[in-house]
Amino acid sequence: MLSSLALAVALLSGLANAQKKGIIYTSGQNSNVQVCSSGCTNINWAYDYSSKPGGSTYGLEFVPMLYNAKSATLSTWASDAMAAVSTATPKGSKYVLGFNEPDGTQNSISPQQAATLWQQYMNQRTNYKKVSPAVQGGSNGLTWLSNFLNACAGNCIVDYVAVHWHGVSTDIAGLQKFVDQAVSQFSPRPVWVTEFGFTDGNNATAIAAAIRYLGGNHGVFRYAYFECANGYLLSGTAQSAAGRTYCTTTF
Ligand SMILES: *[C@@H]1O[C@H](CO)[C@@H](O)[C@H](O)[C@H]1NC(C)=O
Repeated sequence: MLSSLALAVALLSGLANAQKKGIIYTSGQNSNVQVCSSGCTNINWAYDYSSKPGGSTYGLEFVPMLYNAKSATLSTWASDAMAAVSTATPKGSKYVLGFNEPDGTQNSISPQQAATLWQQYMNQRTNYKKVSPAVQGGSNGLTWLSNFLNACAGNCIVDYVAVHWHGVSTDIAGLQKFVDQAVSQFSPRPVWVTEFGFTDGNNATAIAAAIRYLGGNHGVFRYAYFECANGYLLSGTAQSAAGRTYCTTTF
């Protein structure tokens, strides 16, 4: 009895660690997805900051994103998200991602605007889970997120919380502190780290350390390294040393 319970716990925690790794790619550069993910360990999802996969995602689950609040983005969202859910290659999405860095300069909107738009554009479907707007690393981002949830007043469906972190490769402790803070602040919602990266280069040792930490953190549901592109996980059109590490590190 006890040993079968222990076995079940071990199996569950094993499952919790599996398949969290994602691929960030530039829209239309789908062949990069194949290079960054084929033969790799535990990579199972991909996104391109848009609502359409732009081609094959080579066996990975494509997760559509409502990138910003511009009218051109909003007007095609519902049909694109439904297409991704039902027909994306090779299988339907189970999740959708919210606004990308609404707390930054490029896609800036207020938490109140986001809460209103969320109820119009994200709440409406029930056949996928909703991931919150993805905020920048740092306490301002977490404050934006909590202001967003407050502005929603319980009327936004938000199943997961998304955050970004970029810092120096020697500061894995900083990544851990920030992600731990996000996990505890928004519990019980699990966290997606939809971007993490190093401002001082693609340090393979740091990537491996981050993967072990994020993979082992039960509050983290998924994560993705920024990004599958030349100069990051790729060197030209082949995997870089960092890309090999991202590919092969367990978790
Ligand atoms: C790479 O990252 C590791 C882990 O944080 C660190 O110990 C090492 O100093 C970094 N290397 C460079 C060149 O910054």
